[in-house]
Parts: sequence; structure tokens; C-alpha cells
Amino acid sequence: MPSEELVVIRARGVKKYFEPAAGIFRSLVGRRGQLIKAVDGVDLDIKQSEILSLVGESGSGKTTTGEVLILLQSPSEGSIFLKGTNLCNLKRRQLRRFRRRMQVVFQDPYQSLDPRMTVFRTIAEPIRVNERIGKDEISSRVVNMLEQVGLSPADAFLHKYPTELSGGQRQRVAIARALILKPDFVVADEPVSMLDVSVASGILNLMLDLRQKYKTAFLFITHDLAVARYISDRIAIMYRGKIVEFGSAADVVEKPFHPYTQLLLSAVPVADVMTERKRVETRADVVEKEYAAIGCRFQYRCPWVKDVCRDHVPELAEVESEHFVACYKYPSEGETSDAAPVESTPSP
Ligand SMILES: Nc1ncnc2c1ncn2[C@@H]1O[C@H](COP(=O)(O)OP(=O)(O)OP(=O)(O)O)[C@@H](O)[C@H]1O
Ligand SMILES: [Mg+2]
Repeated sequence: MPSEELVVIRARGVKKYFEPAAGIFRSLVGRRGQLIKAVDGVDLDIKQSEILSLVGESGSGKTTTGEVLILLQSPSEGSIFLKGTNLCNLKRRQLRRFRRRMQVVFQDPYQSLDPRMTVFRTIAEPIRVNERIGKDEISSRVVNMLEQVGLSPADAFLHKYPTELSGGQRQRVAIARALILKPDFVVADEPVSMLDVSVASGILNLMLDLRQKYKTAFLFITHDLAVARYISDRIAIMYRGKIVEFGSAADVVEKPFHPYTQLLLSAVPVADVMTERKRVETRADVVEKEYAAIGCRFQYRCPWVKDVCRDHVPELAEVESEHFVACYKYPSEGETSDAAPVESTPSP
């Protein structure tokens, strides 16, 4: 665990439960009143200048976790600390002071930017709302920020509207807006998944550069383990509301322990994995069944499933130094087992 003074965001026992969607699902499976435990007991620490990736397939609870951590959604249970202050204990007015210190970059720069606002207004707005400074200082900060995110010379971009920019340029504007107040913590929710590979790698390198300059802590949400391996220091693998594996990016990708991580990394061609994912995930009843499982939520897809997995929920345990797994296949450190991790390389 990172040393105390460097921890920027800390989550303890964070849960977010939803009422299931009305209508078709309820009539399909008849589980009226069964809550969807979209985030179910998440503990995380992210330190200064660290990028922690949250990885999992669609519907695993990544976005909900990110939004709860910055209190865009309020948790059903648990505590969230920003540099030691428990945000969940604050009154609404007190919380306002902390909101500016936590920002988000969304997946779709086409939707997240206001089409009626120029680049200048988009980036200047958070300053105007939060700080009392003159026009000249605002201008110079916006120009400086544009240069930092690689939109240079700034003059060529200041008066443009989002429709006049490419996807990559729009995402750079979204990043500039998120960082203009020098936040402590940024949630980047699939920020490159809609971009071409070459444009995406430019954005990833920009984020690596900015986290050093600004010492920002990032939660980077992605379904792509190869991207997570490239950009992050540590990786948390999420499945149906629970973190099932957690460790350094190298350990999780090169020595995956959890059968789900192994599935994500399996040598199956990417197209097949995508087909399999769609087939499974578009069936809302399957997803709901996994969320409602009494034991391990991965039990219906797990090749190693044992009786204990159907009755009990495995807790995260340290199976190697700083490498945690929630799976009955592995004993925690100190116990013995024949089970070995699968050596692996990420699929492209
Ligand atoms: N407001 C809501 N009301 C009811 N259920 C919700 C709500 N928001 C999310 N969910 C459910 O919670 C689960 C997790 O959703 P979430 O959007 O966090 O997943 P995700 O990992 O971000 O998926 P994706 O990769 O598709 O973005 C899903 O089953 C989703 O349907
Ligand atoms: Mg999401």
C-alpha cells in the first residue's frame, strides 16, 4: 500500500446499489426487488502521480465506481477520503470546495463538450466559476494549458468550436478543461476507446506526461488490458461490482491469477472475445443473475468452479507480495497450493 502522505483518494467499503430496471427484466426473471450491487465493497488507494486502471468488461461497474469516487453519484455505503478528508461526512456546502479538486474526462468528446462554446470558453469556464481572477490571467492560463495538451499554437484553437476539431483534438480540450484547476484526482472513463489507435496513443502519452507535471492521481477506466498495461502503475480487475484481482500492472498482466483476468488475456483472437462478450452481455438476465449470485459472481463462467464458490464470496487475499486475488483457487500467502499463475502476454 502507498505511504499515507501520498494517498490522494482512498475508498473504504464503497457500495452502490440500484433498483433493477422496471419492465422486461423483472418479468423475465421475476426477481422483483433484487438490488443490482453495481459496486459492492470496493477498497482502493490511489497516490499522487499514480495511474490506477480499473479494467473489466461492459456492465462490471467501472463507471459507477468512478462516479461514486468523485461523488457524482452518492455511495450507498462506505467512505471516500480525499487527502485524508472523509467526503461522505461533509455537508453539501462544504463538499463544493472539494468538488473542484476532482474532475472527470468522459469517453465521448463529441458529447462531453458543449457545441455552442469555443475552446477558450470551454477551458476558461471552470476558472470563472471557481476563482476570482482578471481576464488577462484567465487568458494566459488557458493559452498555457492548450500548449500543455499539445494544441499548439494556442491561437489557432482558441476560437474554434468542437465541430471544427478532430476527435483527438476534442479529447485534448476535454483533458485541458479537466486539468485547468489543477485537480488532485481525475477519473478518465474510457478516454481513448472511441479514437483511432495512433490518435489514442498520443492521448495516452499526454496523460502520462501530465500526471508527472501536475502530480495528479488518475483512475483510468478501460476494458482493454493492453492499454491498462501501457499506461498504469497498478491495475484493478473488476467483475460485477467486485475487484477480483489487484496488483502492479506488470504482475496482473504477466502473471494473472484470477480465471477472469486469464480469460481477458487469453490467446483467443480479440474478435472472438468481443463476440463472446456481446453474446453474454447483451443478455440482461445473465448479467443480473451474476450480480445476484450468492457466491462468487464469476461462478457461471469459471472453468475452475468448486462447491465453495457457489456458497461463499471469495475475499481479496495477498497471494504474492502486493498482488491480491479473490478466488478460492488460491490460498493467501503462508498457505500452500499447487495452483500456479498462468504466464501470459497481453493480446494486441
Ligand atoms: N442508474 C442506474 N440504475 C440502475 N442500474 C444501473 C444504473 N447505473 C448502472 N446500472 C447498472 O450497474 C451495472 C454497472 O454499470 P456501469 O455502467 O458502472 O458498468 P461499466 O463497467 O462502466 O460498463 P461499460 O463498460 O458498458 O461502460 C450495470 O448492470 C448497469 O446496468
Ligand atoms: Mg462505463
